[in-house]
This record gives sequence, C-alpha cells and structure tokens, in this order.
Amino acid sequence: MTNDTTNDRTNSDGLDDTGRELRDALTRLPRTLPPRWLYDDRGSELFSAITGVPEYYQTEAERSILADHSAMIAELTEARTVIELGSGTSDKTRTLLDAFVAHGVIARFVPLDVSAATLHEAAEMLIERHPEIQVEPVVGDFTRHLQRLSDVPSPGERLVLFLGGTIGNFYVEERRAFLGALADVLAPGDWVLIGLDQVKPIDRLIAAYDDDQGLTEMFIRNALEHVNREYDGDLDVGNFAYVPFWDGRQHRIDMRLRASEPMSARLEGLDLDLELAAGEEIRVEISSKFSPSQIVEELAHVGFGADAQVFTDAADEFAVVLARRI
Ligand SMILES: C[S@@+](CC[C@H](N)C(=O)[O-])C[C@H]1O[C@@H](n2cnc3c(N)ncnc32)[C@H](O)[C@@H]1O
Repeated sequence: MTNDTTNDRTNSDGLDDTGRELRDALTRLPRTLPPRWLYDDRGSELFSAITGVPEYYQTEAERSILADHSAMIAELTEARTVIELGSGTSDKTRTLLDAFVAHGVIARFVPLDVSAATLHEAAEMLIERHPEIQVEPVVGDFTRHLQRLSDVPSPGERLVLFLGGTIGNFYVEERRAFLGALADVLAPGDWVLIGLDQVKPIDRLIAAYDDDQGLTEMFIRNALEHVNREYDGDLDVGNFAYVPFWDGRQHRIDMRLRASEPMSARLEGLDLDLELAAGEEIRVEISSKFSPSQIVEELAHVGFGADAQVFTDAADEFAVVLARRI
C-alpha cells in the first residue's frame, strides 16, 4: 500500500501541513475541524454503523442508483482505471466493479482514503473478489494529494468515483478548489461519478444526523477524541453538547459541539492552548445538500462537459452525476 501522507511538508513551527491546518481551524473563528478528523479507525467504524441505521437513507438510495446504472456506466465510460476518492469500505463500489469486470475493459482499481485500516480491509476483500484486476490502495488526503493521480499509469480512460455524499462535507470554496484540482489532474475523455444528497424536508434531514441510537453524535464526538489522541490533548469531550441543525441559507446540516461551561484545554502536539467560553462552539462537520444541476454547473465551470448525466433513486432523494472532462 502506498502512503502519500509522507509527502506533507514540515513547516518552520515543526508541524506538518495536516497539523498546521488543524491548528488554524481550531483557532480561527468560527472554530471548525477539517473533515478528515472524523475518520480514524473508530470514526470509520462508526460511519459504517451509521450507514445501517433506518434514518440514514443516503447509503441505500445511492446503492440502488448504482445497481440500476452500473452496467451502463461501464459501457459508456469504457474506463480501464477506476479511482475512488474517500473510498472507505468501498462497499457500494463492489456493484460498480462487478459491472466493470463483466464489461471486460477495467484493469486497475485505485481506492484512496485517509483511514488506513478501513482502506486496507476493503482492498483485501476486493483483491479476493476480483483477482483479474490490480487493486492499488493509497493512504492519502484528497484535498492535498490529487496530483498523485497523474502518476497512476493509465492507458485508456479513467473514472474517478466520489461517493457517499462526501462532496457535501466541503465548504463552498473548498468544494470549488477540490473540483478544480480534480479537473486539473484528469485528461480530456476521463470521467467523474459524484454522489450527492438532495435538499429535502427538514425533518427527514435532521433525523438522519440525530439518529435514535446516537451514532452520529458519537461519530462527531469521536473527531475531538481523535484530535486528543493524535496531539496529546485534554479537550473534555464529555463537556460539550451535540448540536445538529439545518442552515436553510447555506442549504446544509451543521453539526457542532457546544461547550457546556468555560473550558481550558492544551493540545501538546500542536503547542496550542485553547480557551472556550461557555456556549462557544466547534463546527465539526457540515453536510451540504444540493440540486443535481448545481453540481453539474460547478463541474462545467471547471472543465467538465455541461451535458453530464444525472441518475436518481426511486424517491428522488439522492443523485449520482456522471460527467466527462473536456
Ligand atoms: C462520507 S464517507 C464515504 C465513504 C464511502 N465513499 C461511501 O460512499 O460510503 C467519507 C470517506 O472519505 C474519507 N475522507 C474524509 N476526508 C478525507 C480526506 N481529506 N482525504 C481522503 N479521504 C478522506 C473518510 O475516511 C471516509 O472513508
């Protein structure tokens, strides 16, 4: 397995890019956490558990779309190399890969994720299922290491998958930067397949991020615990309240942790002292909701064809967009 995080620079303050990004995010107001902190091994396990709760409709909706359209996508794209960014368990991707293998053109699958154990386990499973293709997992950060995709040897078309509504975890400027960077590393004729959650009634959205079993709350809290573990910190995670809400102006679910009382914390590894007033919040995750046409337009803006195809599930809750680099 390749590990692309070794490419991070060490800055003059002794922190690598990931550490510096985290320190900036925690000190700038409003305080935030980059999404990668949600996904250590524990976070990935919790995310998998969330995908199985009844309130979290997204996974099954996207799975049904892939089941209905995988054969057509394999035929249309003729991709020899399939790359998956933020691949996680690659669970739904199996349906796609089955169709690509049946079509007979695919030679290589490259899943990329920050969560090494989950990536490794998924790769083992895929190697067993499809010995006829090369499976080459990469531990990396899709906000930093996309340039590496240029190194993936690829005669023929490539298809980049970005599933699970992960595109909704970016802030607007980050999303634009990500899509632009993706367009930059792809050649004319390459494809992207992006899964996105659609705007829908607020009750349905809130229930998905505040499930009865409390799994999403545990997932959000774990992000701070992850930071504590990684940087020898003493943030008192139990002294925060979980606050999920719908931001109608920005069209996104906003998941915060709110300090229940004044708090002092030290993150030794970041050489950072944090002082939080009672009621002060850390925005841990956002999940933006879209109309598919918005993502088609954003893709067209950075160099993908404006004639992208949009597939939706029977209830029209989730969408998958297939666009070609021009
Ligand atoms: C919402 S989950 C989706 C997982 C899977 N694609 C699916 O559809 O179920 C987001 C995935 O992206 C990964 N991830 C988050 N931030 C990342 C980053 N900056 N670079 C690489 N992977 C990242 C997480 O580890 C996780 O596997």
